[in-house]
Amino acid sequence: MTLCTSTLGQWAINERRYLHQYPELSGQEYQTASYIRKWLQECQIELIDCEAPSVVGLLRGTDGRKTIALRADIDALPVTEEGEKPYLSKNPGVAHVCGHDGHTAILLAAAKWLSENRAEVKPNVLFLFQSSEEMLPSGAEALVRQGVMEDVDAVFGLHLWQPLEKGKIGISTGAMMASSDDVRIVITGRGGHGSMPHETIDPIYVAGQVIAAVQGIVSRRVNPIEPAVISICRMEAGTTYNIIPNQAILYGTLRAQSEKTRRLLAAELKQTIEALCEAWGAKGEVIVDWGTPPVVNDKAMSEYVATVVASHWGGEVLTHVEPVMGGEDFSYYLERKPGSFIFVGMGGEKSSFPHHHPRFDIDEDVIPTSTELLIQLVKHFS
Ligand code: NI
Repeated sequence: MTLCTSTLGQWAINERRYLHQYPELSGQEYQTASYIRKWLQECQIELIDCEAPSVVGLLRGTDGRKTIALRADIDALPVTEEGEKPYLSKNPGVAHVCGHDGHTAILLAAAKWLSENRAEVKPNVLFLFQSSEEMLPSGAEALVRQGVMEDVDAVFGLHLWQPLEKGKIGISTGAMMASSDDVRIVITGRGGHGSMPHETIDPIYVAGQVIAAVQGIVSRRVNPIEPAVISICRMEAGTTYNIIPNQAILYGTLRAQSEKTRRLLAAELKQTIEALCEAWGAKGEVIVDWGTPPVVNDKAMSEYVATVVASHWGGEVLTHVEPVMGGEDFSYYLERKPGSFIFVGMGGEKSSFPHHHPRFDIDEDVIPTSTELLIQLVKHFS
């Protein structure tokens, strides 16, 4: 039976189009938050105190012994949107090009249905409209720190996913996405004239060796069956053709799918780079800014999602998601309580540009299905 009627589905699509026109950057989603609060109040859903601009709502179930949390991220990106649609971003330089407008609308629509059908809702439902998924500090980490997960028994979230074909729902029973940490490598030498390198300690030469050495950490120090990535993505050194500078700075990202590998990457970087720099008389400093942990789904909760999906849409809709090295701060919820992060496929003609591209768009056909999925996850939860 379809609970998300075409009226509710259309309502969600309209909400999405409205939210799409007024995107806000991470940590600054105040108008979005007040819009969400207004709707939750309209639905007579209790608002729970939390740090703005995140919004948390609670619907008490008829049984109420268990609590299920549903999460949507609400932030947009610093991108100038391109394309022709009538509901293009009205905030210059900011756009919903990851699909979080869709996530927000889907969770609002689910909240609307659940509040209108309270007699059918057994567990308590906690609605997490979370600020700042795209940037640090993480909005999920902040909510977890404020204790929102304390009474929660299970947590679910979904991402509309362009790389996955439309009509498929992707789940994974374990590690699904990677940790994401920033690293800064500061190499300090002694500058001088470009024609007299022997009188200097050339940090650019040392940086070249460091760049080569970090890939050795991935290939020679990490167990080959454990996914790991180190990418140096920015270099900063020097001013002109003939001056050897004092310092070179490298910026990079560290990715891993287990906490163990994540710690190993950081420790090996520190040891190798400091020793390598020292060998050339330079000083190497490795500064890791810890970001989000890996997203690791709970097996039983992912199987629960699979059962619900299979019984409503048939088993052929389900697909196993191969782990990706992208990051997601949904991981903070999963560190506290069992749950599952779900990919809703939408790739195809209506959604052909990748996430974060200026022409990225949601295939709105999947919005009603996603709303239905959240409702069913609540209805069958026991
Ligand atoms: Ni996203």
